[in-house]
Amino acid sequence: MNKVLVSLLLTLGITGIAHAAGNAEAGKEKVAVCGACHGADGNSAAPNFPKLAGQGPNYLFKQLQDIKVGSSPTAEPGVGRKVLEMTGILDPYSDQDLQDMAAYFASQKMTIGTADPALVAQGEQLFRGGKLEQGMPACSGCHAPDGVGNNLARFPRLGGQHAAYTAKQLTDFREGDRTNDGDAAIMRTIASKLSNKDIQALSSYIQGLH
Ligand code: HEC
Ligand code: HEC
Repeated sequence: MNKVLVSLLLTLGITGIAHAAGNAEAGKEKVAVCGACHGADGNSAAPNFPKLAGQGPNYLFKQLQDIKVGSSPTAEPGVGRKVLEMTGILDPYSDQDLQDMAAYFASQKMTIGTADPALVAQGEQLFRGGKLEQGMPACSGCHAPDGVGNNLARFPRLGGQHAAYTAKQLTDFREGDRTNDGDAAIMRTIASKLSNKDIQALSSYIQGLH
């Protein structure tokens, strides 16, 4: 085998191992500071604080890295993901700590909310069918028909999440206030096709989805 291929395989292998290396037991001891907002088991009470329980560990780890660089008091604007409530909180933690925290929350079970019956039809139509006339793909294509997401591809779990939090994310992607969806800007492009009413219907539908 040639050298380039061998080193590529090694790099991929090592990354794969690193991603699987979170330890939920160790993480449990590191998340005491998070419980006040996200709930001790990752099921937050307040609708503007996201539930973390049952979320994909790869997605959680990426968000923690993005929030760490974007929410440090010295962060450059537009870098990573800025969460004002978490300013500086992640500064003391290593990547290993962040992986352990991700593994802990991923191992918990997300509670499911309820959808407003008046919004289900519109929400389901958008979630499963997209908006073909505007070239917007169905959400279910990446986030799965039951909303559990895809851990390997780092597509987050949506089903059961607080509607207020989901609506804020979709609005932030649309307005360019959340920009950590990669160079392809997948979610910014999708959200640009959503009206406020679409966002309300989708967020309500997603809250009850399982
Ligand atoms: C003072 C409240 C507060 C504390 C403490 C806090 N967070 Fe957060 N966290 C938030 C808020 C608010 C958001 C969402 C911000 C937004 O709307 O984008 C968030 C977002 C997140 C996200 C992104 C979730 C997603 O679905 O994308 C992760 C992961 C996270 N927090 C993990 C943690 C961890 C781990 C800790 C403890 C080390 C912690 N948070 C401590 C308030 C808090
Ligand atoms: C082509 C794949 C793809 C499609 C289609 C897609 N998404 Fe996403 N979505 C993603 C990825 C990737 C992320 C994570 C971005 C990041 O790493 O921050 C994401 C993130 C999100 C988030 C943030 C979750 C959180 O916990 O903060 C929400 C909400 C969301 N998508 C809703 C939707 C909705 C609603 C639709 C349909 C209108 C949709 N997505 C369609 C790939 C997709």
